[in-house]
Amino acid sequence: MKTQIKRAAITILASFFCLHVYCQKESLIIKPGATWPDTEGNHINVHGGGIIFYHNTYYWFGEYRLPRNDMDRSHYGVGCYSSKDLVKWKNEGFALQVTDDTTSLLVRGCVIERPKVIYNKKTGKFVMWFHHELKGQGYRAALTGVAVSNTITGPYKYIRSLRPNAGIWPVNFTEEQKNATVKASDLKSGSDEWKKAVKDGLFLRRDFAGGQMARDMNLFVDSDGKAYHIFSSEENQTLHIAELTDDYLNFTGRYFRVLPGDSNEAPAIFKKNGKYFLFTSGTTGWKPNPGRVAVSDGLFKDWTPLGNPSRGTENENKTTFGSQSTYVLPVEGKKDLLIFMADRWIPENLADSRYIWLPVEWENGTPIIKWYPEWDITRLK
Ligand code: GAL
Repeated sequence: MKTQIKRAAITILASFFCLHVYCQKESLIIKPGATWPDTEGNHINVHGGGIIFYHNTYYWFGEYRLPRNDMDRSHYGVGCYSSKDLVKWKNEGFALQVTDDTTSLLVRGCVIERPKVIYNKKTGKFVMWFHHELKGQGYRAALTGVAVSNTITGPYKYIRSLRPNAGIWPVNFTEEQKNATVKASDLKSGSDEWKKAVKDGLFLRRDFAGGQMARDMNLFVDSDGKAYHIFSSEENQTLHIAELTDDYLNFTGRYFRVLPGDSNEAPAIFKKNGKYFLFTSGTTGWKPNPGRVAVSDGLFKDWTPLGNPSRGTENENKTTFGSQSTYVLPVEGKKDLLIFMADRWIPENLADSRYIWLPVEWENGTPIIKWYPEWDITRLK
C-alpha cells in the first residue's frame, strides 16, 4: 500500500513537473515598455506601426528611426520584421527607403510616419500607405503616400503622395456647411466661435480645392474586402474615413467626417461583433495624453465617444500608460484576443521608443486596457 501511495505521489509530482516545463516552453511573454530585441539582439525598430498576417506569419511594418539623440526627426523609411509567434521577430530589412534622389518627394530628410500595409486579394499586391511630410517643411505638407509591392517584405515601389479628396464633399456635410463663408482669419483661434466653425468644416472648406490634410493614419479592410484609410485631417481637428478604390491604390471620393472638432489622432480601428471601435489619442505631439475610444454601427455612421479606455492609476489614465495608440491586432487562432498596440515615444532618441502591447479587455461593451508588466499570449483565448 505504502509503495502504491509513493508511486502515485511520484507520478503526480512528475506530471506537475512536465506540465511546468511544457508551460514554460510554450509561454509567449509580452513585456510592455521593455526593450524588445529582435533575433539579432537589436531593439525592434518599427515605430507607429501595424501588423498583417500572411501565410502563417506576422509582418510588422513601422517607422525605422535613426538611433540619434539630436532631435533629428529624419529616418531611413519603413522597416519590416517577421514572426511566427508575435514574440521572436526577424529583421526583414527596409520595405521602403528614403532616397538620395533630390527630385523625389521621398528624398532623405522627409518624414514617413505610421506606415501600414494591407493585402489586396483581387490584385495579389501588397499596398502600403503612410503619412508623408516633405523635407524642410516640418509638418505643413500633411500628405499621404502610397507604395506597392508584389512581395510582402518589399521593396515597395513608391507611387505618389497626395492630399485626398480634392474637390469632393464628405458624405456627412450639410448644404449649410458647404455654403458657409466664415474664414479662419475672421475668428480668434481657440474661441467658442472658432470651435463651432471648425466643427462645421472651416478647414475642410479651406482645403476643398487642393485636397484634405492627412496626418496620423491607419488602414482598415472590412469583411467585404473594401479598404478604408483613416486619417487626422482639418488641422488635426477632425478624422476622416475615406474609402479606397478596389486596387487600394487610390481614393474613391467617398469619405466621412468622424467626431468633427474633437481633435483626435493616432487612430486604430477594429471590428468586433458587427460593431466598429476606434482608439485614438488627443493631439499633444510626442507627449502622451488620455486615450479615447469610440464606437459606431458602421464606418460611415455617426461615432459615439466611450471615454478613456485606460483602467489604471490616475496618472496612467492621463497618459494611456505612457503611450499613444497605433494599431489593434486580432491574434490568429484566438477568438477574442485583440492586442492594443501603442508607442511610448522617446523624442530624444525615437529609435529607442518602446512598444506598449496590452490585451483589449471589455467592460459592458466598452473596450478597455489595463496595465500588465508582462503577460502571456498563450494564456488568453
Ligand atoms: C504625434 C503623432 C506622431 C508624430 C508626432 C510628431 O502627435 O501622433 O505620429 O507625428 O506627433 O510630433
